[in-house]
Amino acid sequence: MTISGKAKLAGVMGWPIGHSRSPRLHGHWLERYGIDGAYVPLAVAPERAEQAIRALPALGFRGCNVTVPLKEIAFRTVDRLDDTARRMGAVNTIVVHDDGTLEGGNTDGFGFVESLKADRPDWCAERGPAVVVGAGGAARAVVVALLDAGAPEVRLINRTDARAEELATDIGGPITVAPWVSRETALEGAALLVNTTTQGMTGQPPLDLDLRALPVAAVVNDIVYVPLDTPLLAAARRRGNPVVTGIGMLLHQARPGFAAWFGVEPEVTADLARFVLEG
Ligand code: ATR
Repeated sequence: MTISGKAKLAGVMGWPIGHSRSPRLHGHWLERYGIDGAYVPLAVAPERAEQAIRALPALGFRGCNVTVPLKEIAFRTVDRLDDTARRMGAVNTIVVHDDGTLEGGNTDGFGFVESLKADRPDWCAERGPAVVVGAGGAARAVVVALLDAGAPEVRLINRTDARAEELATDIGGPITVAPWVSRETALEGAALLVNTTTQGMTGQPPLDLDLRALPVAAVVNDIVYVPLDTPLLAAARRRGNPVVTGIGMLLHQARPGFAAWFGVEPEVTADLARFVLEG
C-alpha cells in the first residue's frame, strides 16, 4: 500500500535486524486495516542505540519495538517504564507520547500468556506448577507473566543454576529453583512446561530434558518458532501432551504496540501465523 506524507511511523530496532519477522507482521496488519502508516526495520548497533531511541520523537515516530540485543539499553534510556517492564528489566515496546516523552513497556509476557490461552482455551495458570527452562530475558518475561496470571508455583531450571537463583531473587514470589543436574524432578506434578532457551532452534541441539516425569495432561510450550515443531514439542506430542508452538507469542506480543501507534486493535489469525512464517 502506498503511504502519504502523513503516514504514522513505527518500526523495530535491533542488531542485526534482517531476520526480524515484525515488519512483515505489522505490514500485514497495516494493509489489512487500510492504515496510512509504515513499520520499518531499524538496524541500530548497541553503541548507538541510546542515541537512536532518543531521536524517535524528533523523527516523528510514534514508537518502536526493541529486540535483541537492545532491550536492556531501551530499559535504561526511556523516560518512564510501565510496571511490567520494570519487573522484567527489559523494554520491547516504546511509545512516544504527545509531549515527546518515551514510555517503555514489555509485552513479551502478555504475548506468551495470550498465545497459550488462544491455543489451549482450557489452560489456566492457577491449575498447577509451571516449569520454566532457561534464565535469560525471555525467561524473565515468561516467569513474570505466569505469576501475574496466577500460577501457584514457578519451578525454574537453568544450565547455570546461579543465573536461575538470580532471576528468582530479582522477581520474587513463589519461584523455586531446581538444580540442573536433577532437573527432571521438577517435572513431577507440573501443569505446564515452557522452554525459553535457544535449544531446539535450527542449528542448535535439542533441549536435553527427559519428559518421563511430566504428567501427560501438562501443556508443553516452546517459545522457539524456527522450526515450529521443535524436538521438545515432537517428543511431548508423541507421549500425548498438548503442545503450543512459539509463533503465537511473537504474534500476540505485537498487538499492544500496533494498537498504541496505529489506533487499531489487530487480530491474530491462523492465516497470519502462516504468512509470517513464510517470510
Ligand atoms: P534470551 O535473553 O533470549 O532468553 P539468553 O540470555 O542468551 O537469551 O539465554 C539463553 C538461555 O538458553 C539461557 O538460559 C542459557 O543457559 P545459561 O544461563 O546456562 O547460559 C540457555 N542455554 C544456552 N545454551 C544451552 C545449552 N547448551 N543447554 C542448556 N541451556 C542452554
